Amino acid sequence: MTGNLQFDAQGRLRHFLTIDGLSRETILEIFTIAESFISVGEREIKKVPLARGKTVVNLFFESSTRTRTTFEIAAKRLSADVINLNVGASSAAKGETLLDTVRNLEAMHTDLFVVRHNQAGAAYLIAAHVPPHVHIINAGDGAHAHPTQAVLDAFTIRRHKGGFENLKVAIVGDILYSRVARSLIRVLDILGVPEVRVIAPRTLLPTAVETLGVRSYTDMGEGLDDADVIVMLRLQRERMRGALIPSEQEYFNLYGLTPGKLECAKPDAIVMHPGPMNRGLEIDSAVADGPQSVILPQVTNGIAVRMAIMALVLGGREPAEGGRPA
Ligand code: NCD
Repeated sequence: MTGNLQFDAQGRLRHFLTIDGLSRETILEIFTIAESFISVGEREIKKVPLARGKTVVNLFFESSTRTRTTFEIAAKRLSADVINLNVGASSAAKGETLLDTVRNLEAMHTDLFVVRHNQAGAAYLIAAHVPPHVHIINAGDGAHAHPTQAVLDAFTIRRHKGGFENLKVAIVGDILYSRVARSLIRVLDILGVPEVRVIAPRTLLPTAVETLGVRSYTDMGEGLDDADVIVMLRLQRERMRGALIPSEQEYFNLYGLTPGKLECAKPDAIVMHPGPMNRGLEIDSAVADGPQSVILPQVTNGIAVRMAIMALVLGGREPAEGGRPA
């Protein structure tokens, strides 16, 4: 799928659908804007007027807690009016097509749709059919992409590690079904992280995973050795067909992040998880709640990053130098 649909004829970022086609400068520009929004969340009055008068619809065809809530808070802190639609429970169940649902909401003068769907490509389909003044942000499409999560994860890494130049990042778990992993690998590559590793049982690694520019490991000790950043992933059981892990207990024994396994990484390694996490399956509570965990800061940072991305697409600003796709 091409990322060029994201840019308008003048090369401005109009939609945010995928990491593909984004330049390093555009991602760094999002970070700069997000840094300025971090302080908004810490103020007594947590609002800026950037999107005043704009209407944002959170169009979620798949359940979500964190992502939907942080998008809602982000839009409200930008002073937009926000409507949350859990479409799974309404029109789609009555047989309405995706595009008809969107056309109806468009007729209500929506400016920005934040779309989550269990089918890969759903946000693209909508972006290809909306008029020029309507913007789409992909909040996760099937196992394909979750670009705002990837940017907030990278932003969190930079806040804790200062940069990307010398990092070893290990992504652990269900790589096969994870849209988070796919988008994060792309963003870390663009930002110049020299070593990205994926660690999983062979059944949860996509075939030819090395073509993504990562090193793959099936052993936690080897994969975590000397790592600076560990990103744990949830087992996406709702997407799995058949038994891909022998048993939950064995998965935890081999791949669950315990204090013992964490010792293989650098002493100052940070531990991340996009949530929702399964304690006792992919991560031990002692690690999830421990001093190296930045799982809750990820959530806080997610609001600032989503505010920045919304401001950028709604503002119709020129992306930073080099932001235009080739
Ligand atoms: C992720 C998602 O929905 O893809 N979660 C999230 O956005 N916070 C990861 C997951 O569901 O495991």
